[in-house]
Amino acid sequence: MIREYIQTHQDRFLSELFELLRIPSVSADSRHKNDVRKAAEYVANSLREAGADHVQLMETKGHPIVFGEKIMDASKPTVLVYGHYDVQPPDPLDLWHTPPFEPTVRDGKIYARGACDDKGQFYMHIKAFEILMKHKLLSCNVKFMIEGEEEVGSDNLGTFVVANKEKLKADVILISDTSLISLNQPSITAGLRGLSYMEVEVTGPNRDLHSGVYGGAVANPANVLAKMIASLHDENGRVTIPGFYDKVAELSGADREALNKAPFDLTEYKKELGIEEVQGEKGYTTLERTGVRPTLDVNGIWGGYTGEGAKTVLPSKASAKISMRLVPHQRPDEITQLFTKHFLSIAPKSVKVKVTAHHGGEPAVTPTDSKAFKAASAAFKEVWGKEPIPTRDGGSIPIVALFKKELGLDTVLMGFGLDTDALHSPNEHYGIKNFLIGIETIVAFHKHFANP
Ligand code: BES
Ligand code: MN
Ligand code: MN
Repeated sequence: MIREYIQTHQDRFLSELFELLRIPSVSADSRHKNDVRKAAEYVANSLREAGADHVQLMETKGHPIVFGEKIMDASKPTVLVYGHYDVQPPDPLDLWHTPPFEPTVRDGKIYARGACDDKGQFYMHIKAFEILMKHKLLSCNVKFMIEGEEEVGSDNLGTFVVANKEKLKADVILISDTSLISLNQPSITAGLRGLSYMEVEVTGPNRDLHSGVYGGAVANPANVLAKMIASLHDENGRVTIPGFYDKVAELSGADREALNKAPFDLTEYKKELGIEEVQGEKGYTTLERTGVRPTLDVNGIWGGYTGEGAKTVLPSKASAKISMRLVPHQRPDEITQLFTKHFLSIAPKSVKVKVTAHHGGEPAVTPTDSKAFKAASAAFKEVWGKEPIPTRDGGSIPIVALFKKELGLDTVLMGFGLDTDALHSPNEHYGIKNFLIGIETIVAFHKHFANP
């Protein structure tokens, strides 16, 4: 019955999603402020049309949060669906095969910025809700909270959650903003990494210099920065910041074994990325390196002449954006401090170094024995005919730890994307199959959650 309804309405579901994907709701770019609001209004309307009550845009210091709810019976449990309607900037634009805000279907996949992260994923919840309403299948309560600042660190969400505890009262948070293993092997994410994001600036001489006149005698900030960054890893791929690993939770042998049981094809992984070899912390598998080990990476680096042709110059400044992915029980504020102290300490006297912190986020581990997790497992079992495997994802959704801290709520991370969906990259996409089976699985979740 549900599957038939989805099939019958699939074209409409997709064209509605496409309309949302056409709105360039890039939260990081102030030129898109109005587009971000337009996307929020679109989401609010979709919720109203699906049958939600009290739908409203709730203002924050930044972009608005869309709220809506359906209270069937206040004595019954409530599911709070969280998602984000903002997207990453689409650049570099010239690497897209079709424009990022003109959704295009190729090979059964929707290509557009936000197709998977997260418009295509949270929209499944609105359509699942429509189905539950149409078929009078909803017996528990549902609340929606779709924000517009996830991709810039959810700066105003903490304040919002604290100020609206009563409104957000629920029994579990449900999020589709992660990946699963494949369409042949469902999985539920049981942990996310945290994040500490830094920016460093190295300053040498008081102006750019002729590299022939001064080169070799005056410290070159770009050379110095490169050397400092290189020293942040040792020959075993471990981060050299003193204290960095002090609080890292080591997995038990049994947990490691379980984690590595997930199907993973290293040859296919390398081939898909066009690399000859993987790298990382010695003694750990690729799944461990991305799931349960902390890391440090340069996200951007600049300084000196980067225009066309050659210019012989010794730059006055060089900078880099450096992020660290964190695992339980590392704390972003502590790691930020350790990084700052260490980075300043390794600077040679010939330069000045400035370190600033951008946003951070706590890592999160979600329980696999809760009623809601069991409902999610049962939903996959019913729709996919296969038991889902719990996995750990390498990305971050800082609000998960915040929901736990402020509302005491656990989250179920029921994502339907794939790691290869090019999130944050050119040609982001989302499988139509993933979208449709996701809707069906979410409907099944509500059924199992209400009647365990
Ligand atoms: N949806 C992603 C996080 C994600 C992606 C988790 C894939 C698991 C698998 C989210 O939108 C995101 O990109 N988060 C940022 C952090 C944020 C503070 C900017 C990230 O992980 O870099
Ligand atoms: Mn996301
Ligand atoms: Mn993202």
